[in-house]
Amino acid sequence: MTAGNRIVLSSDHTAIPLRQAVAAHVASRGWEAVDIGPTAPDGAPYPQHGEAAARLVVSGDCRFGIILCGTGQGIMMAANKIKGVRCGVCSEPYSARMIRQHNDANMLSMGARVVGEGLALDIVDAFLAAEFEGGRHAPRVEMIRALEA
Ligand code: RB5
Repeated sequence: MTAGNRIVLSSDHTAIPLRQAVAAHVASRGWEAVDIGPTAPDGAPYPQHGEAAARLVVSGDCRFGIILCGTGQGIMMAANKIKGVRCGVCSEPYSARMIRQHNDANMLSMGARVVGEGLALDIVDAFLAAEFEGGRHAPRVEMIRALEA
C-alpha cells in the first residue's frame, strides 16, 4: 500500500462505533484504513485525536484523514491548527464533494451526534469520489496556505 491509498481515522469517545463503521466502509472501497482509535470510551479529548490524525496526513503517511467527535467541530478545529491541513465539517454529501473540488480538503470531519451511519457513509463516498478542480480555485487554496506562515 502507498500513502495515496491510506486514510487515517480518528475520533473521540463519542464517535467510536461510527468511526469503526467508516473504517470498514472505506476498506470495502479498496482504501487502507489506518484506524488510530481510540477503542475504549475513556474520554480521551478530541484535540489529541484530531492532532494525531492530522500529523499522519501532513507527514504524507496518509492521503486523507477522516475524524469524528460529537459535533465534528472540536476535532476539526484541532486538526486545522496543524500546518497543511484543510479540514471541513460535513453533514451532507454536497459539502463533502465541494471541499474536495474547491478547497482541496485533505481531511473530513463529521459529528456522530449529528449524522447517522447511512448519511455518514454517503458523505465519505462523496468526499473520496471528488477531485480538486484546480483552475480558479488553486490560487485561493494557495491563499489559505499563505495564512499559515
Ligand atoms: C464531547 O462531549 C463533545 O464535546 C465532543 O465530542 C465534540 O462534540 C466537541 O466538539
